[in-house]
This record gives sequence, C-alpha cells and structure tokens, in this order.
Amino acid sequence: MPAFFRLQRFCFQREDAMEKPEDLIIPKSIAIILDGNGRWAQKRNLPRAMGHKAGCETLEQTVEDCVRLGVECLTVYAFSTENWKRSALEVGALMRLLRFYMVKLIDVANRNNVKALMIGDKSRFEKDIIEGINRLEQATAGNTGMKFVFAINYGGRDELRRAFGRMLCQMKENKLSPEEISEDVISSCLDTAGLPDPDLLIRTSGELRISNFLLWQIAYSEIYITDTLWPDFNREELLKAVESYNHRERRFGGR
Ligand code: FPP
Repeated sequence: MPAFFRLQRFCFQREDAMEKPEDLIIPKSIAIILDGNGRWAQKRNLPRAMGHKAGCETLEQTVEDCVRLGVECLTVYAFSTENWKRSALEVGALMRLLRFYMVKLIDVANRNNVKALMIGDKSRFEKDIIEGINRLEQATAGNTGMKFVFAINYGGRDELRRAFGRMLCQMKENKLSPEEISEDVISSCLDTAGLPDPDLLIRTSGELRISNFLLWQIAYSEIYITDTLWPDFNREELLKAVESYNHRERRFGGR
C-alpha cells in the first residue's frame, strides 16, 4: 500500500495505539514557508487580511496534524524581517491577528502538550505583543510534546548577524577564542539553539525560493514545494509532503 495511505491510517484512522510501520519515516523536524494567503484571498475577491486569517486557521490544524504524525519540531515562517515593507493596512491586520492568535495558541498548544517558542527579533514589536509572546512561551513551557516554533520578525541573515554579535560578546569576555568557533558553537548562538535542523522544508504556493528562512539550519533539509496556497494546505497536503519525504534518499554529502 502506498506510503500516503499507510500514513493516513497510522496517524489519523487508528482506534487503538499501534506501532508505527517500521518502513514509514516521519520527519523529526518540519519547517514550513507559509505562502499564498494573499492569492487565496484575491481569488475570492476578499481583502488580503482574510487570506491571513484563513492561513491562521490552517496553521492551527497543521499543528494538530503534526502532533498526530509524531513530528518533534514544527517551525513556521509567519512574519519575515522583510514583511514590514508591506502596506500599513496589511501589517496592521497581521499584527491584530498575531495578538489574537498568541492567546488562542495557548489553548491549542496546551490541549496538545505542545511547547511554543518564538524565533526572530522580538524587540521591534509593540510592548503588548512582546508580552503576549512571553505569556505564550511561559504558559506552554512545561509541555513535553512537539515543539512549535513560530518565526516572527525573523530573517536568516538577521539571525546570523545577531549570532555573530553573541559570539563577539563571548570573545570580549574571554569565554570564546577564534579557534574555538565550530559549527556547534555557531548553532548554539542562533535563535534555534537546541532545536533539531529541519529534515523537511515545505513551501506552499509554488515559488522556488528560500526567502531568507533558516539559512544555516536547512543545509541538508529535503525540500518539498507545492502549488497549493497556504490556506488550502490541509492534512492530505501534509501527508503528500511526508510521503514525498519517504521516497528521498538522504546522503548528507556522502555516497
Ligand atoms: C505569505 O502569504 C504569508 C504571510 C506574510 C504571513 C503568513 C502567516 C500566517 C498566516 C500565520 C499567522 C501569522 C501572523 C503574523 C499572525 P502572502 O501574503 O505573501 O501571499 P501571496 O504571496 O499570495 O501574496
């Protein structure tokens, strides 16, 4: 039976706990570039903000589906350092949604034993949003299941810039020397310190770009691109991505 149907049966149709079929591989860490909210809204003659709202609902479902699949870490690109260039109207709508969903996510995360974490530079947000982020992280800190990493005001280059700053500070305090800078040291200075690198990177809405997402961490990620717009990315689409991952041969540069 194709991997898609076995995944569906194993994760979403079983009534009793059942061993995972040995040959099915669930990526430990999935990262998603959420794209296509605007086009989804445009196709329906709706304002772009409605596309983002629909995207938030899809995100909630995806968090729950990834928990059921047994994913250990889900990282999503929700607002980039470049997204501030959008119209004030759209940025305002996104900030309103952010305020609302940070509260809603506490519930979704606690219901699913999910630990929510934010990556990106929080300092640019208004005070109440920063407080909301802290509240969400604190309220879910004790959860031991999947980690849900929400990248906001995040850019891969900006993250590296801030990591270099951290390393320089450690050098100034004589806690680090240039010879000691290893890949592990660099990873430990990133926002994602301690989190697994993505095994699978998904991008919706067909663009063939990385868009400054997790530049260091996706060195060996398998990439899956679908034309589906983010709000339409349902469980079936997620399973298709995981099925595609099951057909990849990962060599990490070796033979
Ligand atoms: C890209 O679609 C999507 C975004 C810029 C934001 C997506 C994030 C969410 C739905 C999650 C919630 C995030 C917040 C901050 C509340 P697009 O607008 O670029 O779509 P287009 O390429 O079709 O125009």
